Amino acid sequence: MSSNKRITTTVIQERKVAGKAITMLTAYDFSMAKFLDDAGVDMLLVGDSLGNVVLGYDSTLPVTMEDMIHHGKAVCRGAKRAMVVVDMPFMSYQVSTEQAVANAGRIMKETGAQAVKLEGGQEVADAVKAIVRAGIPVVGHLGLTPQSVHSLGGFKVQGKEEKGAQKLLDDAKLLEESGAFAVVLECVPALLAQKVTDSIAIPTIGIGAGVYCDGQVLVTNDLLGLFPGFTPKFVKQYANLHTQLAQAIAEYRKEVEERAFPGAEHSFKISDEVLEKLY
Ligand code: KIV
Repeated sequence: MSSNKRITTTVIQERKVAGKAITMLTAYDFSMAKFLDDAGVDMLLVGDSLGNVVLGYDSTLPVTMEDMIHHGKAVCRGAKRAMVVVDMPFMSYQVSTEQAVANAGRIMKETGAQAVKLEGGQEVADAVKAIVRAGIPVVGHLGLTPQSVHSLGGFKVQGKEEKGAQKLLDDAKLLEESGAFAVVLECVPALLAQKVTDSIAIPTIGIGAGVYCDGQVLVTNDLLGLFPGFTPKFVKQYANLHTQLAQAIAEYRKEVEERAFPGAEHSFKISDEVLEKLY
């Protein structure tokens, strides 16, 4: 497989030049981070989708700095080669540039991650510049930005009309000028993502943004089919672990109830001599 050297921002940027696709997946804990790292995934995103898939909220808004740091630390312990990017949670970078730098610094210091990600374009350009000036690599995030779900009016494809598409393109250029080293494009038409990808020198990483991006990201739990029910159009389920998990758990329950588990092979022995001495 590829070398064990840590993937850096330079490696990620060189991929765009070389035309070699970047792989990114979300991770929220040590074991999954280790799986993904061992499988050679380039970038692990400790996404604030943590709020939905791990913490059980119905949006990413309640996620806190403490949540991101707690899970960021666990992921960093499992990732030896992949670059770890930690999401800055809602309201950790919007209030002031100073607070954005302080919070990005806390994430880097306390988790050991290699970069942070934050959502938005022109609205967060000053924060991006200041964080980059502090020596912290930044990934931008445009299109459907889940922290703004209420102002976007729901989880919808972005940039279908001229005004929105132009803003997205301008924002991507501004993020590049502000020093971001990559940008996630979420839920945008494939040909708009292609136009953005061709218009900036930093890599684009798409989720629901078609095949022309420089890389792809998915929420790992979606890819593995860990949830029954609704799956967004842009997700491809590479496994259906929900069914396998449900079967395994049902079997465990049945065997415990029938006293078929644990068997002798799962149990420890004691000598008759010791047993006989007990009163
Ligand atoms: O939080 C997250 O998982 C993300 C991805 C959807 C890109 O931001």
